Amino acid sequence: MKQYLNSAATCAHSAAYLERSTNLVGMATTAVDTGVLSYATYVNPQWVRLLDLLEMNVEYQRCLGSELFTSDGRRILDFLSGYCVHNIGHNHPAVISALRDELESCGPAMIQSHVPALAGRLAERLCRLAGGKLAKVFFGSSGSEGVEAAIKFSRAHTGRTGLLYARRAFHGLTCGALSLMDDSFWRAGFGPLLPETTAIPFNDLAAVEEQIATRRYAAFICEPIQAEGGINLPSADYWPRVQALCYRYGTLLVLDEVQTGMHRTGPFLAAHLYNLEPDMVILAKALSGGLVPVSAVLMTDEVYSSVYSSLRRAIVHTSTFSENGLAMRAGLATLDVLESEQLGVRSTECGDQLRQMLHDALAGYEMVKSIRGEGMLSGIEFRAPHQLRLRIAYEAFMKIHPAMFGQIMVMRLFRDHGILTQICGNNFNVLKAAPPLVATEVQLQEFVDAVRNVVELAHSSTSFWSEALGMARRIVNL
Ligand SMILES: Cc1ncc(COP(=O)(O)O)c(C=O)c1O
Repeated sequence: MKQYLNSAATCAHSAAYLERSTNLVGMATTAVDTGVLSYATYVNPQWVRLLDLLEMNVEYQRCLGSELFTSDGRRILDFLSGYCVHNIGHNHPAVISALRDELESCGPAMIQSHVPALAGRLAERLCRLAGGKLAKVFFGSSGSEGVEAAIKFSRAHTGRTGLLYARRAFHGLTCGALSLMDDSFWRAGFGPLLPETTAIPFNDLAAVEEQIATRRYAAFICEPIQAEGGINLPSADYWPRVQALCYRYGTLLVLDEVQTGMHRTGPFLAAHLYNLEPDMVILAKALSGGLVPVSAVLMTDEVYSSVYSSLRRAIVHTSTFSENGLAMRAGLATLDVLESEQLGVRSTECGDQLRQMLHDALAGYEMVKSIRGEGMLSGIEFRAPHQLRLRIAYEAFMKIHPAMFGQIMVMRLFRDHGILTQICGNNFNVLKAAPPLVATEVQLQEFVDAVRNVVELAHSSTSFWSEALGMARRIVNL
């Protein structure tokens, strides 16, 4: 059961699917896409069952900007953005047109023996936007692949093997990246993972110093603001002081900006919020406009030279789809959109506005502990209520599964208000709000009204709790 809920917590977005999976056998096939049926048979039946249970299994037909339209005529407002993939909104016409041009040009694709000019152009723009010491780029196809590269490069550069990371981090589910995540849910059964990795609390300067003073660590790999960990913000002086410590003890500062980058938190990188000059930055997700897999590891010349140190080592770290034309074209078009629509400024301004609106709407509700974030990455943290009546129900939920309460909020927002969101994958008490950066003020207000309504129900309606308990029981009996 825990497995179901954890995947719900992290995967509130939906694959298209038409009918209740439990009725698959013998159901009328007229309305059912055969691919959808095959998905339930050949890909991931558990995922289908989970979406059914959460009443989130709908068929998305058209997705535009911040809105998703389903085959049964519903319109869903996206406050998940595919885990911060859709910063420029779904299916942006400029990215679609760039991809069309690329395909129709019949240019070089996967030749593997040429110099891809598009990759050069994208790398140059990324280094300019990131600034500081970042001067070279390795391209991959996923955030995890970027983290894997960062692990290898920091070891190659320093000659050290240790890796320091933060508790509750999310860095990806390949073996190396997973070695930098401490939650046993993700790790159990997949070991042995990388040795010599150490988790420390996020935002704990003394813990950083204690560890890196040992000079064992090649890198401190960390999200500047933890996303799945619960939208955890560092204190103002944390990062500048960590950077100074890294410099003093010869540990590389590697920032995982897979979620926080690409203006999600306001400036191009969250690193810019703290005036940092990291040795490496990992980008992915929003980099290609949500349409083509991509990642980029930005690094200093020194780190690059330690890896690609001679002609013999010119491709010592690479992968087949690295630098592919579609991803590069999509990346360039996405940067154009971010710039021309001034989505960085918008992220800062609308994010501040959203949190203010949430503060105003949710003030006085005892289960709302805090509202926090930067740019368009916000979290609403819930806590156990004091009132005995509510507390008994809340604690019953927690006993069933710690994600249950948050997941019911997600389900209610989706079913009753047509809003897609998630609870943080490594902190189930936090509801994450990460709309596309193009979300309008009216859409922000719609989200705030919906959240207030669901929070109000949790505080005042016995049917909220009885229905939720019913669902919890169904999950237990799965
Ligand atoms: C901060 C962060 N780093 C890395 C990853 C892994 O990215 P991917 O799923 O593309 O491998 C994620 C995925 O959610 C992430 O949030």
